[in-house]
Amino acid sequence: MNLRITPYRSDIQIQPFIPDNRIYEELGEEGIRDMISRLYDALVQSDIQEMFPKEAEELQLAKERAADFIIQRFGGPKWYAQRRGKPLLSQRHAPFRITPKSRTTWLRCYREVLETTPLSEKTRQEYWRFIDEFSTWMVNTPEEPVPSNGFRPVIHPK
Ligand code: HEM
Repeated sequence: MNLRITPYRSDIQIQPFIPDNRIYEELGEEGIRDMISRLYDALVQSDIQEMFPKEAEELQLAKERAADFIIQRFGGPKWYAQRRGKPLLSQRHAPFRITPKSRTTWLRCYREVLETTPLSEKTRQEYWRFIDEFSTWMVNTPEEPVPSNGFRPVIHPK
């Protein structure tokens, strides 16, 4: 099992690889809900915990929304469309300051969970590739904040 994290690059936008529906076929709805539940349990212990709900009921709802999306995306019932409408995921992530480092933390949590999820190796690799690549779309904040005094260094291109 070799689940690599692709370094984030601000100069390119990766067109994510979209796997077939095997993740849903192998895990079923309950298996996906369990995987996402363990992901969120890891996230609320991580160094990006402040982004996620602290309250148990709210956390449960967040788990449901995230699992609904994966279930629908990979061929299961369209719970997400019914409950939330269009995915618009970049827009829905916009209120959070997601830096390249936050992405790495999020992916490390996901990787830990995926390594202990009962999947065939091919499905695990392909699903990871989707998660790794698609997660670059949610990064919306550079690592270093722009100086608040408005100063921008002048760069002379060669
Ligand atoms: C770059 C790493 C990511 C971070 C730090 C992140 C963080 C968050 C946060 C803070 C929320 C709001 C709380 C919640 O409802 O869970 C959220 C919602 C959500 N995330 Fe992410 N996310 C990331 C990547 C992804 C990816 C790659 C996907 C899809 C595969 C995804 C799918 C979702 C969905 C479906 C929701 C619920 C949207 C809604 O209906 O409100 N996220 N995420």
